[in-house]
Amino acid sequence: MSFSPYGCQIVSTGMAVPRTVLTNADLEQMMDTSDEWIIQRTGVRTRYRSNPDLGEDVAALSVEAVNAALKEANLAACELDLLMLATCTPDMTCPSTASRVAGRIGAVPGGSFDILAACSGFVYGLNIADSLIRQGGYRNIAMIGADSLTRVADYTNRKVSVLSGDGAGVAIVRRVDDPSKGCLFQSMYSDGRLWDYLYIPTRDGDAPADVDWNETKLNYLQMKGREVFKFAVTTIPDALEEALHKAAVKMDEVSMIIAHQSNARIIEATRKRLNLPEDRFYVNIDRYGNTSAASVPICLHELRQAGRIKEGDVVVFVAMGGGMTWGTSVWRL
Ligand code: ACO
Repeated sequence: MSFSPYGCQIVSTGMAVPRTVLTNADLEQMMDTSDEWIIQRTGVRTRYRSNPDLGEDVAALSVEAVNAALKEANLAACELDLLMLATCTPDMTCPSTASRVAGRIGAVPGGSFDILAACSGFVYGLNIADSLIRQGGYRNIAMIGADSLTRVADYTNRKVSVLSGDGAGVAIVRRVDDPSKGCLFQSMYSDGRLWDYLYIPTRDGDAPADVDWNETKLNYLQMKGREVFKFAVTTIPDALEEALHKAAVKMDEVSMIIAHQSNARIIEATRKRLNLPEDRFYVNIDRYGNTSAASVPICLHELRQAGRIKEGDVVVFVAMGGGMTWGTSVWRL
């Protein structure tokens, strides 16, 4: 419940992916795997892979996505009060990728910073954007989710690498005078005791004690796949039930649940546990793989483009990722 005179509206969206498509057939040439195994266990058929030689880094994908969204909103970059970028694969640790994107598009002197909450980052960011806008000090915020999981994918580790994809998605969020628009309920949670379910080691000492360590793992995503899976199939349905209850929204009032695309089986298990029809959950992991913080805004953009969600609809964003982090954001568009 908000006591602010302001509301918050997603006025435009954008997305970008690298040029190179990596198919399951390509992966069959790179490792001991099969198209059948990947589709059955993950739902992924293709994903996009950045080529640094073509300048395809996280900032470049973000610039393409945010420029498209600015154009749709008929907004100049310098009118952005804030640019936030959720990523766990920043191009550099300092400056933030958000600052480099803001610099390239001319979003000066708006604030800029990265959010590191792995796959939950975009949902965390939407919650922050809504809160800042309702507080009254900000009018236009660009919320970007962008990652290059292929850059941190070890292609000798078949469990992790088949899931990984790259992309960027963005929502431009604007202050409006109608307080009924925007976030109706938000949650942000984490359990840092489970950090070793998903991590990218950068020093020898980063490895948990029980891991058979060798230095070839440095800078590559390490994942306890089964533990992440089990965590997801209980945490995501519980978080959704809590969000709808606290937002006082009934499930049949929800037009779409926009969930992080971690694995098609996780989304399907969530749908079945909540006894929901197939069309209530958007799924595009077959085309993009797991793009981490980019997956939710890419879904949002595709749904808007296809006219499947519109102003006035209630949509629920939900994600979980490394940390372990998770969160929800219930919106009236
Ligand atoms: N191709 C063929 N066989 C494979 C592959 C592969 N790519 N990967 C694993 N296998 C084999 C294993 O070696 C194992 O064989 P074995 O029984 O002979 O030992 C068998 O398949 C089953 O392996 P599991 O690890 O039990 O496979 P599972 O069904 O759990 O699927 C997966 C693995 C896809 C990783 C799943 O656990 C998963 O999706 N977990 C969640 C992942 C996720 O959401 N991660 C978020 C990452 S991104 C982020 O947060 C930044």
